[in-house]
Amino acid sequence: MRAVIEQHIADRVRVDAFPRSAKYDPQWQLDNMMGPNALWLAESLSGLLRWEPGMRVLDLGCGRAMTSVFLAREFGLRVWAADLWVPPTENWERVREAGLADSVYPVHVEAHDMPFPHGFFDAIVSLDSYHYFGTDDLYLEYLLRFLRPGGQLGIVVPGLTEELSEVPEWLEPHFEPEFWSFHSPEWWRRHWSRWGTVDVHVADMLPDGWRHWLHWAEVCVEAQAGPRPDLTEREVPLLRADAGRTLGFARVVATKR
Ligand SMILES: C[S@@+](CC[C@H](N)C(=O)[O-])C[C@H]1O[C@@H](n2cnc3c(N)ncnc32)[C@H](O)[C@@H]1O
Repeated sequence: MRAVIEQHIADRVRVDAFPRSAKYDPQWQLDNMMGPNALWLAESLSGLLRWEPGMRVLDLGCGRAMTSVFLAREFGLRVWAADLWVPPTENWERVREAGLADSVYPVHVEAHDMPFPHGFFDAIVSLDSYHYFGTDDLYLEYLLRFLRPGGQLGIVVPGLTEELSEVPEWLEPHFEPEFWSFHSPEWWRRHWSRWGTVDVHVADMLPDGWRHWLHWAEVCVEAQAGPRPDLTEREVPLLRADAGRTLGFARVVATKR
């Protein structure tokens, strides 16, 4: 049976910084979360991209396809909801429930072996996923095959204010090895720029990103939401101890030349 959250939790899911996301059912957001609030990440990215209704968009590493639903509904886009761990049949059910069967298309995809025609997409976005597969030097060139010239690429990933050579002392009690896959906006700018195949327009830390991340983790702990409550519980003291000194979200937007 579907859990029903208390009103004060629902109120905390709706935040002023993300007015579009605030329109979505708080219970739906909590039920489908796989990490930091994906709708907030999508909203913070979507304002930096140019959208036209009907554009073909790849949502790579879409998880439970909340962001695919968001992009299709908010901007009238056609979105390919591509993910490795979440079966497309499960996402199809969510998409149909959202009434978007004509504009969101779930597919099972391994990011290094994609079934799409070259030059197919007008835009590729990836929220809280790209660090799983996109840090290797060759990956961007592979991904760009699927984007048309002039097409837009935008990601938001957990990131660092600056590159770490060692673990800061205040993070030591909380540090997880996967944090080594987090990078600074400048690292991402360089990583994407050096082949000369894209123009990077934005590489920054999401404003107040760590505060939003902490707020969401606190809400999830209170609501006992998410696939790994133990992970979310560890995030709260981590983000409080760091207080934005190191961790947050890196946001990168580029256009294919
Ligand atoms: C932390 S979840 C985020 C999901 C979703 N974007 C969200 O924010 O709710 C990371 C996602 O990356 C996807 N992923 C990881 N490695 C992948 C790969 N090699 N190819 C495609 N997707 C991948 C996983 O399937 C998972 O759903």
